[in-house]
Amino acid sequence: MSEKLELVYEGKAKKLFQTENPNILWVEYLGQATALNGKKKDIIEGKGELNNKITSTIFERLHEKGIQTHFIKQISESEQLIEKMEMIPLEVVVRNIAAGSFTRRLAVEEGSVLPFPIVEFYYKEDALDDPFINDDHVKALNIATSEEIELLKKSALAINQALITIFKEINIRLVDFKLEFGKNVNGEIVLADEVSPDTCRLWDATTNERLDKDIYRKDLGDILPIYDEVLKRFESTK
Ligand code: TMP
Repeated sequence: MSEKLELVYEGKAKKLFQTENPNILWVEYLGQATALNGKKKDIIEGKGELNNKITSTIFERLHEKGIQTHFIKQISESEQLIEKMEMIPLEVVVRNIAAGSFTRRLAVEEGSVLPFPIVEFYYKEDALDDPFINDDHVKALNIATSEEIELLKKSALAINQALITIFKEINIRLVDFKLEFGKNVNGEIVLADEVSPDTCRLWDATTNERLDKDIYRKDLGDILPIYDEVLKRFESTK
């Protein structure tokens, strides 16, 4: 059994602790919701447990499909063990259907199916509000090399295909999502962070009901029953 040692990082939704193994971190998912880069913030008891369980399930299903992630195992309702990564400061967004900032910026109608999945990079820097950047910016800022950029895009698209299948099994359309990658001790680029209704846009495939954080971002209601619905659907396909 691993031991929970000192706090090494505290983010908006998670705390990371060192364990006795230098390559393994202990993650605690928090009952906190934020939007607008932290400007909107609320304590939502139970959200940490739901996101921990949903992310654990999704990472296990990605592993079954041959996709490597930092996830080791879920250890409690709100905690999991992960491989320690040197994080790449990018938010890699993949879009299948127009929504969110894509519709606002480009005046494309929400719900339009894109002709192919679009990959975008955002520079993960709170002080700058995570600006949209292109491949040249990523290279010029020494965030990643050309080869690494290609690998990030290829991985993001492969993960997209796997996630589309994983969500289709629970009658959900994967509209778009955000990924974060890190480098493990062997220097391999691996999927990290979380994949949950906080980081994906998920629409019911039959009714288009929103099953994700847009409910919170747009003040459309309580997110707990919505996230619980996503978890229940996963549990029904175990
Ligand atoms: P966007 O439409 O606001 O750019 O978001 C695209 C996707 O990325 C959406 O599924 C929500 C997710 N996302 C995050 O997980 N974290 C973020 O900080 C942002 C901006 C988006």
